[in-house]
Order: sequence, then structure tokens, then C-alpha cells
Amino acid sequence: MSAHNEPLLVATELRKAYGPTPALDGADFTIRAGEVVAVMGPSGSGKSTLLHCLAGIVKADSGSVRYGGRDLTTMSDGERSALRRTDFGFVFQFGQLVPELTCVENVAMPLRLGGVKRREAEERAAAWLARLEVADIAGKRPGEVSGGQGQRVAVARALVSRPRVVFADEPTGALDSLNGEWVMRLLTDAAHDTGAAVVLVTHEARVAAYSDREIVVRDGKSRDMERTS
Ligand SMILES: Nc1ncnc2c1ncn2[C@@H]1O[C@H](COP(=O)(O)OP(=O)(O)OP(=O)(O)O)[C@@H](O)[C@H]1O
Ligand SMILES: [Mg+2]
Repeated sequence: MSAHNEPLLVATELRKAYGPTPALDGADFTIRAGEVVAVMGPSGSGKSTLLHCLAGIVKADSGSVRYGGRDLTTMSDGERSALRRTDFGFVFQFGQLVPELTCVENVAMPLRLGGVKRREAEERAAAWLARLEVADIAGKRPGEVSGGQGQRVAVARALVSRPRVVFADEPTGALDSLNGEWVMRLLTDAAHDTGAAVVLVTHEARVAAYSDREIVVRDGKSRDMERTS
């Protein structure tokens, strides 16, 4: 088998409890480069917890998360945050932009944190804003733009550093269907153009339809879902 087909991120038997009730109860997950996997399931089933464990934001109580031959669960906090900066991109439901920074500064931030000089970082950020057709709001602050515009800025910020894995938790949750489709097309294009893997948490079947594969999380356990259409 070629290295290209090998899984990029593999989680096995993840368990995580908050108090007495498990949020994850033996969940498994696998994704390959260039693949978009939708994580579905009812509210409270453990979707966000799974995403946070996969991204090294939350440490699982047991189980392993292997990325590029390393286990995130045994790395130090410093190693994990360095990995998040260099290899991972994030989009959340409400964008979560920094309100004090302009849109172009928000998009440039992951590059700046990675040591790219301000001018170059902002040029690259501006190019992403143009690609997402929101070049005109580059100098505005997040509080001065619409929800859909803000979410495009958040997508630009997630993709600007060309991450290997994009983690998106309900990225279209605050958007109308037109803007939601836009965001999904951008994420799937990014996966197919740059070979990024996209872990997409959503409860909308319409959004999940953009994925290559779906898994369902229920009571902290995951299973593959067969496509019916
Ligand atoms: N930081 C936390 N502290 C305590 N309990 C938590 C925490 N995060 C999650 N939980 C609990 O773990 C379980 C799984 O939560 P999680 O956020 O992963 O669900 P979800 O599938 O993402 O739900 P939703 O669709 O509503 O976002 C829930 O019972 C939740 O109350
Ligand atoms: Mg959630």
C-alpha cells in the first residue's frame, strides 16, 4: 500500500469523562489526507469532545490519538500546542475572531504566530480574503461585518497556514443556507486542492452531504454510517 493512502490521524478507544458520566466511551476515528469526514450525532453525544481530543485541545483519559507517527496523548502540552499551530486549522460555530483586530489581522494571526513577518503575513491573508470574496472588509473589525462575512474570515484564518488537518465544529451553524453552502464548498475545495483532511462536526444532513464519509457518535461511541444515497 502506498504511503499516500495511509491514515493521517487515527484515534483508538478514546475515553473521556467529566465527572461520573462519560463524554467519550471508547470512540474510534480515522481520517486520510484529502478526506472530509462528517461527525454526526445528537446533542450531548460527544462530537465536540471527540474533535477536541483529536486536535489535542482536550486530553483523553485513555486511548490513543496517532498523527504522523506520533501519539498526541503522550506529548507535552507545549508539543501539542506547537503541533496545533503548525499542522492544524480551526473553524468554530461563531467564528471566534479576535474583536480588537481587523479582519486581515485576524487571518494573518496564525502566520504571525508561526514567525512570518507582518507584511508578508498580511499579504497572504489579504489574498485569502480575496479568494473568499470578502476583500472589501479587510480593514474592518469583526463587530462591523455580517455573520456570513465573519465566518468567511474564520475559514480564511483556518486555511491560511495550509494546515494538514482542518477541524470544523458546526462551522455553518450560525449561517443561512447560502452562506453555509459557501463555507462548505470552501472547506471541501481546500481539502481537495491542498490535501488537507477535514473533520467536520455537524448535525445537518445537508452539510454532511459535502463529506466523503460520515460517522455517527452516540453515547460517546462512534460508528461508520452507510450512505443511503
Ligand atoms: N467541559 C465540560 N465539562 C463538563 N461536562 C462536559 C464538558 N464538555 C462536555 N461535557 C459533557 O460531555 C458530554 C458530551 O458533550 P459534547 O460537547 O462533546 O457533545 P456534542 O455532541 O458536541 O453536543 P452538541 O451537539 O450539543 O454540541 C455532554 O454530556 C456534556 O454535557
Ligand atoms: Mg458540540
